[in-house]
Amino acid sequence: MKGIVFTEFLELVEEKFGLEMVDKIIAQSDLPSNGVYTAIGTYDFSEMLSLLKNLSQQTKIAIDDLLLVYAEHFFNVLANEYPDLIKRYKDPLELLASIENHIHVEVQKIYPEAELPTFQIVEKTSDKLVMIYKSSRAMYSFGLGLMRKTFEHFDSRATITYEKLTSDGTEVKFSIVKTNG
Ligand code: HEM
Repeated sequence: MKGIVFTEFLELVEEKFGLEMVDKIIAQSDLPSNGVYTAIGTYDFSEMLSLLKNLSQQTKIAIDDLLLVYAEHFFNVLANEYPDLIKRYKDPLELLASIENHIHVEVQKIYPEAELPTFQIVEKTSDKLVMIYKSSRAMYSFGLGLMRKTFEHFDSRATITYEKLTSDGTEVKFSIVKTNG
């Protein structure tokens, strides 16, 4: 997992819960990196899981809810870091339908070691997109947060529902329906 995912996560934890919480969850997690991350480095996904687990225990907030909030913050980071990737799109559904064959393809070119999910499009019309998220990392709540922020970015609205196809959340079907034409 890319370092930027860790550095931005710890920054948000500091902003929301304070530096002591950052120190606490790093100390509680047995991290090969010792909690020292650079944005361009690559670290084991298990480190993120440990940090999330300990933050969840400390705050009594479910991991999926933490990921949802984190994704909303991460979208702004992505929009700042990669404005050209997002500027190509005028419509949130078009952007979401292009993660698999454009956006994440470009990300993989920039970071060959990035670990990205796949999104398989099942149905697409001008106001509806159904796609299946697949990833061993089961970060579908992170995906949901990014989808919600995508609509906000375009000042558009949608109803986004999902259904787990596997109980561990490694395969999740998303239905995204635009509600403002
Ligand atoms: C992960 C880039 C948009 C879904 C990531 C990662 C990067 C990235 C760098 C981390 C990979 C790693 O740590 O190895 C981007 C860029 C985007 C974009 C530049 C737009 C300009 C989106 C959107 C979604 C999405 C709109 C919404 C569905 C995900 C998910 C992950 C991820 C769910 C977590 C990894 C996993 O589940 O396996 N993306 N992304 N991305 N991205 Fe994107």
